[in-house]
Amino acid sequence: MEIIRLDLGERGYPIYIGGDLLGRADLVAPCIRGEQVLVVSNETVAPLYLEQTAAAFSDYRCASVILPDGEQYKTLQTLETIFDQLLEQRFDRRSTIVALGGGVVGDLAGFAAACYQRGVDYIQIPTTLLAQVDSSVGGKTGVNHRLGKNMIGAFHQPRCVIADTGVLETLEDRQLSAGLAEVIKYGLIRDVEFFCWLEQNMDRLLARDPEALAYAIGRSCRNKAEVVAADEREGGVRATLNLGHTFGHAIETGVGYGRWLHGEAVATGMLIAADLSRRLGWLTPEEVARIDNLIDKACLPTRAPADMDCDQFLELMAVDKKAHGGRINLVLLERIGAAVVCGDYHPQLLKQTLEDHLAVGGGIL
Ligand code: NAD
Ligand code: GLY
Repeated sequence: MEIIRLDLGERGYPIYIGGDLLGRADLVAPCIRGEQVLVVSNETVAPLYLEQTAAAFSDYRCASVILPDGEQYKTLQTLETIFDQLLEQRFDRRSTIVALGGGVVGDLAGFAAACYQRGVDYIQIPTTLLAQVDSSVGGKTGVNHRLGKNMIGAFHQPRCVIADTGVLETLEDRQLSAGLAEVIKYGLIRDVEFFCWLEQNMDRLLARDPEALAYAIGRSCRNKAEVVAADEREGGVRATLNLGHTFGHAIETGVGYGRWLHGEAVATGMLIAADLSRRLGWLTPEEVARIDNLIDKACLPTRAPADMDCDQFLELMAVDKKAHGGRINLVLLERIGAAVVCGDYHPQLLKQTLEDHLAVGGGIL
């Protein structure tokens, strides 16, 4: 087992990565203050892993709440289901919430923990690749609004993250690829050596080679932990973790939550960002081609949705949390391995880039 520490002083915590971690009472015990534990999961993950997970909490009064599955349920309404359970079963302020699932469950359960009685502890047990390399680490929690993705939320750090690599065996191929988008992101924004490793090892990752997966998860989590430790509340460098996300969130909202997976939308968004970076004279055409190849090799979409137009794209991008005073700040690439947050580009250049991508279209329908 690899242990990575996210260093945030007294709010810091360990990230455990390895096989057979789900039932490990010794990992969770130091994180639990009270007697009550609520495991939040969903209708897909619970039948697979709830029993095994609950074994780690046998010394506590442990209950569970099973949510419907899907991005379209990452809403305030679903949050109510969790609060109903917490209140009906009289969970107190020393209770611990456990998020068992992908990023949707993690964001919902984490936000419930941030709000319930003004904040209780929670543990992240991520079960998708995307959640293991990204969403479970760093304390961003929240829900979507019909007008914008992740628009209602809070920063609330978990007490620990337990990434059991064995659970990835049951993940659908499309979901594995979606997670690889966030893995590629770390290479692009700050770790060129990792990007080169990914170019050499993508086949092993797609074949779910356990050693390659554990390496990629560990390296991704180390990158994320360093960025979050440097800038927990996204005053600066943390924004670079959103490479491709401003474009991606517009796609997810524009086509309707759940049609494009988050990682798929981020992949296409990273390519649009790379293309704009090239037009600004930063990336070379060869570098953009390498990025395109790696995203394609990871079985991710390289084309924008056929049914969105440029105005809709720009309108949705303006809702982004990085937009200030009508200006859309974008994460762009100076080179592979170096990202910058940039609001200083000509709006026409962005419009032209989007129009060119949309004209090709052909992404997921
Ligand atoms: P998800 O949670 O919808 O999970 C994907 C699918 O896989 C679901 O159907 C789920 O039930 C299923 N599943 C989960 N684990 C499984 C397993 N082991 N075996 C079989 N099926 C399994 O999607 P996701 O990609 O994990 O997360 C996407 C969400 O994460 C988005 O809402 C995104 O906004 C959010 N996110 C948050 C952060 C953050 O910092 N908080 C970062 C990135 C993404
Ligand atoms: N996924 C972006 C962040 O955690 O900041």
